[in-house]
Amino acid sequence: MSVVPRAGRRAAIIQGLGTFLPERVVTNAALSERLDTTDEWIRSRTGIRERRWAESGTATGDLAVEAGARALKAASMSHVDVVVLATTTPDHPCPGTAPAVAARLGLGHAMAFDVSAVCTGFIYALATASSLIVAGLAESALVIGAETYSTILNPEDRSSAVIFGDGAGAAVLTAGDLAEPGALLGFDLGSDGEHADLITVPAGGSRQRAQDVEPDPADFYFTMRGREVFTHAVTRMGQSSKALLDRIGWPTASVDHLVGHQANVRILQSLADFLDIERRRAVVNLDRVGNTSAASIPLALADAVRLGTVQAGDRVLLSAFGGGLTWGSTALIWPEIESC
Ligand code: UT7
Repeated sequence: MSVVPRAGRRAAIIQGLGTFLPERVVTNAALSERLDTTDEWIRSRTGIRERRWAESGTATGDLAVEAGARALKAASMSHVDVVVLATTTPDHPCPGTAPAVAARLGLGHAMAFDVSAVCTGFIYALATASSLIVAGLAESALVIGAETYSTILNPEDRSSAVIFGDGAGAAVLTAGDLAEPGALLGFDLGSDGEHADLITVPAGGSRQRAQDVEPDPADFYFTMRGREVFTHAVTRMGQSSKALLDRIGWPTASVDHLVGHQANVRILQSLADFLDIERRRAVVNLDRVGNTSAASIPLALADAVRLGTVQAGDRVLLSAFGGGLTWGSTALIWPEIESC
């Protein structure tokens, strides 16, 4: 599905970014001490050197509050109409994590809800918040991607335990004009549930009931068929990006920065090749944070802004892919704003 707001129309504008990473750094060497893996394998197959894992007792909502507070500060705002929190690792199965995050941020009775689209969550959440703004149901929004994958990783599964990290990233959106820098110019969003089994946490929902069968403890952990997911990641993000660029009239050669989901540096390179965008235009920060799922896009974007790679006036393409399967892309001209 592709939806692009018409030129000269109301749009959602990015006003500020905020990020938060837990302090605890987990290096490849540390993982090699307890898993049958090596720093060389992890770096050469994924590009990851280290990731952050939250200490026991720290939940996704805690990271979301920190990133959200920083984004509000960067945007010089103390109120928003809606909080949309993308996460695969909510604080509880019920209720959603967003209302408690909104309350802790002092956002009063703002509409607040979670979006569950795994690694595509932040793009889906941006699209949701943007749509509420364009429809006139909100003037401002706080969009957060936050995860504590360390809580769902099987400590004995070397194929997933080395990949994922914890963290949170957030963006403040306000109502403005489509012609303004920072306006989200359109979205391409999609899913393919035929491949839902490629990425799952089998237990903990209504499908596998604790009262019917004694669940296998391993079923509460994250599982992924990595090789198949790799291929889908490249083609789905590639096709979604192309569809979006066609709709907004940007030639791929005009894209200054490709901010793709930070799952694997080889996926980012293949995605750049698929789109015929120079590899050096692909933003990479997974070497320092790993795959942070719904937090991946805002963490990579904020990092590139902080380092001065992404500058005001640059054309930025965001594209994500994740379990579901889900995928989504959006684009904007980077505005003069703070990253905190
Ligand atoms: O965020 C949602 C989207 N996620 C993604 O996009 C992830 C996509 N997938 C990937 O990034 C890659 O498939 C992985 C990094 C997960 C795996 O890399 P791969 O090159 O596809 O490896 P593989 O799964 O094909 O496994 C190759 C070998 C296997 O050994 P055999 O069967 O060839 O003897 C694995 O058992 O590598 C082995 N292996 C490991 N060896 C050392 C798997 N994980 C490890 C490990 N250390 N950590």
